[in-house]
Amino acid sequence: TMADHLRKYESLFTLTPQRMRMIVEAFKDTLELGLEKNGQIVPMIPTYVFGWPSGDERGEFLAVDLGGTNLRVCLVTLQGEGKFEITQSKYRLSEEQKQEEGQKLFDFCAECLKTFIDQHIGEEPGMINLKEGETLPLGFTFSYPCSQQRIDHGELIRWTKGFGNPNTEGHDVAAMFRQSLAKHDVPANLISLICDTTGTLIASHYVNPKTKIGCIFGTGCNAAYMEKVSNITKIKELQIDENAEIAINCEYGAFDSFHHEHLPRTKFDTIVDETSNKPGEQSFEKLVSGRYLGEIMRLVILELIDDGVLFLGQNTYKLEVPYAFDTAFLSLMESDPTDELLMIIGIFTHFFAVETTLAERQFFRALAKLIGRRAARLSACGIAAIVSKMGYLEEGCAVGADGSLYNKYPGFADRIHEGLVDVFGDKGRSIVTYHAEDGSGVGSAIIAAMTKARKDAGL
Ligand code: BG6
Ligand code: GLC
Repeated sequence: TMADHLRKYESLFTLTPQRMRMIVEAFKDTLELGLEKNGQIVPMIPTYVFGWPSGDERGEFLAVDLGGTNLRVCLVTLQGEGKFEITQSKYRLSEEQKQEEGQKLFDFCAECLKTFIDQHIGEEPGMINLKEGETLPLGFTFSYPCSQQRIDHGELIRWTKGFGNPNTEGHDVAAMFRQSLAKHDVPANLISLICDTTGTLIASHYVNPKTKIGCIFGTGCNAAYMEKVSNITKIKELQIDENAEIAINCEYGAFDSFHHEHLPRTKFDTIVDETSNKPGEQSFEKLVSGRYLGEIMRLVILELIDDGVLFLGQNTYKLEVPYAFDTAFLSLMESDPTDELLMIIGIFTHFFAVETTLAERQFFRALAKLIGRRAARLSACGIAAIVSKMGYLEEGCAVGADGSLYNKYPGFADRIHEGLVDVFGDKGRSIVTYHAEDGSGVGSAIIAAMTKARKDAGL
């Protein structure tokens, strides 16, 4: 029966508290190693964002945000005292755009920004008021691992999240974007390059100074936090001021890549990995993030079709297409309020042209829950590793979180919190996640303002 099958998957996808604690220990060691040595799998990237914002950053900034579900261009006005205004446009990238020449991708970003500026030129407050020859400061949120030597520079280490644009890995993406801006005569001056996690960390702290960690649970998964420069033994040249702090972009989606020693991977996870454009890489991310959860579910369904358990006598070709099963379907399935599970009927008839029985629909919902719950509990392990490494447990901390899983997947945040209690016991309750302020818009603007202030001060 379906119930027997479910039991099998339950044991595959369930993480015990004990297993979670083992993962956290290994995770913590990996984070430490990344601070010690260059070229590690989890690169622990110093972002050249020095310390927290004062909360009094002001001014008008442009922001371009590439790396999540949408490409966004924003105009942010920072008003000080933790206040701001934001205007934005969103664009959806096609799968083709994720594979074309790298420079073409940046050209597209520049064109979108140009259109946005043209639409927002005006005298009124909240509009862009530029005189001939003037430019606006621009913060670029580029959410892929980049190694930085300064804030306005970043060499792409590797594409993640399914991107594969040639001639970009190993290149300075800030320089590439600047070239596209110049080509399209965009009146914008790129002054900072950041990752969405760093933006989330800084923007969240701007409005809630208890924040110590910024996390993304979306298409990808990753976190950033503030580290003492003296703990980052791999960068000698920064060891000037003992008390200085710098934000670290962990890039911990790469945890357990290549060696696969620590995470409980099922055969479905192995298939996701091996059929991806980057086999072996981003192992943690492939179990946790929105880009992959639907695909994991689809592969389980395919196994049951092959075993003659599901959809006997029906044509299942639509389910055979890789990535046809969107992670949003898991969210919808888990939140279906009807006894008959009408939403699930809708998904299968409308998108896959197959009919389901009630028992099958209950099975699908339970399966979504297993996959979604595992993702949230592993997400908790990533947060726990930082908390444990930094000793945040005693005084507690707030974690600013963003991304479609966090914002839209029912119960995701609650499951993270449950996971934190499983790892730390009751003390885990002192770690609280909350929906972050728009990190890539506001965070990017604040960081651009901080950068400008440092420059003006001759630093
Ligand atoms: C958005 C942020 O809210 O979340 C982006 O502005 C970030 O910078 C994104 O990359 C992550 O979520 P998703 O689900 O769009 O990948
Ligand atoms: C991927 C990227 C990382 C980003 C995360 C969330 O892990 O490599 O830079 O922060 O996705 O968008």
